[in-house]
Amino acid sequence: MTTALIILGAGMGTRMNSELPKVLHTIGGAPMLVHAMRAGAALAPEKIVIVAGHGAEAVRKAALAYDPDAQTVMQNEQLGTAHAVAQAGPALNGFDGDALVLYGDTPFIRADTLEAMRQARATHDIVVLGFDAADAGRYGRLITDGDTLERIVEFKDASDQERAVTLCNSGVIIANSSVLFDLISAVGNENAAGEYYLTDIIGIARARGLSATVVRCDEAETLGVNSRVELIAAEAGFQARARACAIDDGVTLLAPDTVFFAYDTYLGRDAVIEQNVVFGPNVTVESGATIRAFSHLEGCHVSQGATVGPYARLRPGAELQENVHVGNFVEIKNAVLAEGAKANHLTYIGDADIGARTNIGAGTITCNYDGVFKHRTTIGADVFIGSNTMLVAPVTVGDQAMTATGTVVTKNIPRGDLAVGRARQVNKTGLAVKMFEKLNDAKAKRVKDQ
Ligand code: UD1
Ligand code: CA
Repeated sequence: MTTALIILGAGMGTRMNSELPKVLHTIGGAPMLVHAMRAGAALAPEKIVIVAGHGAEAVRKAALAYDPDAQTVMQNEQLGTAHAVAQAGPALNGFDGDALVLYGDTPFIRADTLEAMRQARATHDIVVLGFDAADAGRYGRLITDGDTLERIVEFKDASDQERAVTLCNSGVIIANSSVLFDLISAVGNENAAGEYYLTDIIGIARARGLSATVVRCDEAETLGVNSRVELIAAEAGFQARARACAIDDGVTLLAPDTVFFAYDTYLGRDAVIEQNVVFGPNVTVESGATIRAFSHLEGCHVSQGATVGPYARLRPGAELQENVHVGNFVEIKNAVLAEGAKANHLTYIGDADIGARTNIGAGTITCNYDGVFKHRTTIGADVFIGSNTMLVAPVTVGDQAMTATGTVVTKNIPRGDLAVGRARQVNKTGLAVKMFEKLNDAKAKRVKDQ
């Protein structure tokens, strides 16, 4: 059965007190919307439709950045969840598979849970995801009879008896697409909120003789974010799970609570992560690599046997091959360091290729930016770059070449050559002593004159 994903994200998110649309606030370095899209990806959707309203242009961009096929439709006025889903109707015209509705502010739905819903769909027309709430609060209540879901009643409209029900609506729902839109067209807004409730489709479906049931999940999965305090709690929950997963996967975390993960961080077995390490999006650290304390990594790949830090920064496009060493106060961006290359101290390597076993001396900088354009530096294998070398790109250094300390490299260096590009040193006999005398005299005179 093919599936279309409908993600609701038009709500203003007033309680976030933010210019940013709520669904673009991030958890683990990715907008909540992307978490919802990733969750939905478990059902390999053929179509993805995002319902946007507030900040729709930014929402559309974020959706496209994650999936270039995602469509965004507008809900100009937020008249309720049924009205929101209805806006996706034209985009799904002619689609005859299932439609799964997710919320853009509910980032933690698991793949297994959606799979269980799909399976339940084989025997029921509509499947709703529910959970037993510790505190049911203002959630919609699922009114069941055995395995059958009879209707959903919103808190505002519920009787005391209905409010006593603890089985709650997560908002996630799956049904055949045309059945769903057909039911929605029968939903009215005569209720306590004056909104078009998506939840009303269950009662309407039952009255038409369609079947509906509930799949249950853990309450933590359906956690929604409505305020910054809840966002912080969601981030903390995400980090706790990511740390626990990494430990289960055989990663050594010396101080788990001080390591921060992104939504897609991949750490291999027996990788060692020291204290206070931050992973931005798109990082892979292979088995047996070591990330030392206070390092910040994003968009990079660290191979087996490599060590990074302490105090290193790997930026997007940093590719460290096996046994590379990157030491303290070294920044690497868009650069490949081949096997066994070393940059141990105080260095910037950007837009560069560094050959195998090459050693980059302390204080070396690839001057990659001329103020308008970026240029590449290419360094061969077995090269020795002396301390404080400035490599003014574009420039190429051949294999087994060397640069003298303090050299400003502005021309290519052929294979095997030594480049020296600095003023020659001259020693002036006894001149230091004379200078000190002169300066001390001047100081004494100044003190006397005061
Ligand atoms: C909804 C459910 C409730 C459920 C709860 C779970 C309805 C009527 N109620 O209530 O049963 O327990 O979620 O969290 O469905 N949205 C739009 N356009 C709109 C209205 C909402 O895009 O016109 C989006 C919001 O941005 C949000 C989601 O739909 O992502 C849910 O809306 P919200 O107003 O938070 O619904 P609740 O009142 O919490
Ligand atoms: Ca809500």
